[in-house]
Amino acid sequence: MVTQTWTLKKAVYYLLYRLIAKHLPEDFGLIGKYSNNLRGILCRPLFKESAKIIRIGKGVDFDNGCTVIMKDHANIGSYTLIDGNHATVQIGKHVMMGKYCIIILQNHKYREDNYDGFVGKDIIIDDYAWLGHRVTLLPGVRIGKYAIVGAGSVVSKNIPNYAVAVGNPAIVKKFRKKVKVIE
Ligand SMILES: CC(C)(COP(=O)(O)OP(=O)(O)OC[C@H]1O[C@@H](n2cnc3c(N)ncnc32)[C@H](O)[C@@H]1OP(=O)(O)O)[C@@H](O)C(=O)NCCC(=O)NCCS
Repeated sequence: MVTQTWTLKKAVYYLLYRLIAKHLPEDFGLIGKYSNNLRGILCRPLFKESAKIIRIGKGVDFDNGCTVIMKDHANIGSYTLIDGNHATVQIGKHVMMGKYCIIILQNHKYREDNYDGFVGKDIIIDDYAWLGHRVTLLPGVRIGKYAIVGAGSVVSKNIPNYAVAVGNPAIVKKFRKKVKVIE
């Protein structure tokens, strides 16, 4: 199990995030423009690891945050749920994410009576990947660099670099041509 090591600063940031920042609108005049960045600032100390500039959409839920690793300019889409505290999710550089994604980090031990315990499996969303709206990632998957996952897809197996994958279960439909990225 991954546990949060609480400090006073973290506790204050956590409360500010949960009670105020999480609910700030993204489209409200001058403030709205900055609310994703503000949420990023408050979440950074809570996360296991975080770059300086990250963006967190409205309504994102992640328990206490200790399972999340975010690289430079990574985004978490609005109303996304990161669920489970027995593994970590790494969100790579410049990852883009639509709304209402679900990132599931663990299964119940379903072979035991009463489902006792959990099995966690890390998830990696590699650099420059793009998840459409309502994508679900199941425990243990890796989304390759520059890969795209179509809206509403459920990813149960690894998606290779540059692939465009869609559906439930997500299958690779085609590959993007290699892109030249300006950082
Ligand atoms: C994945 C995506 C980018 C592909 O776009 P595209 O290259 O124009 O895809 P196409 O329309 O050529 O579709 C290719 C095939 O995949 C299927 N397909 C495309 N998107 C799909 C999806 N989300 N779920 C299931 N199947 C999908 C198409 O039906 C088509 O199937 P076929 O080969 O059997 O005819 C796009 O469909 C998508 O889902 N975009 C996400 C949009 C979004 O969520 N935006 C939020 C902003 S962050």
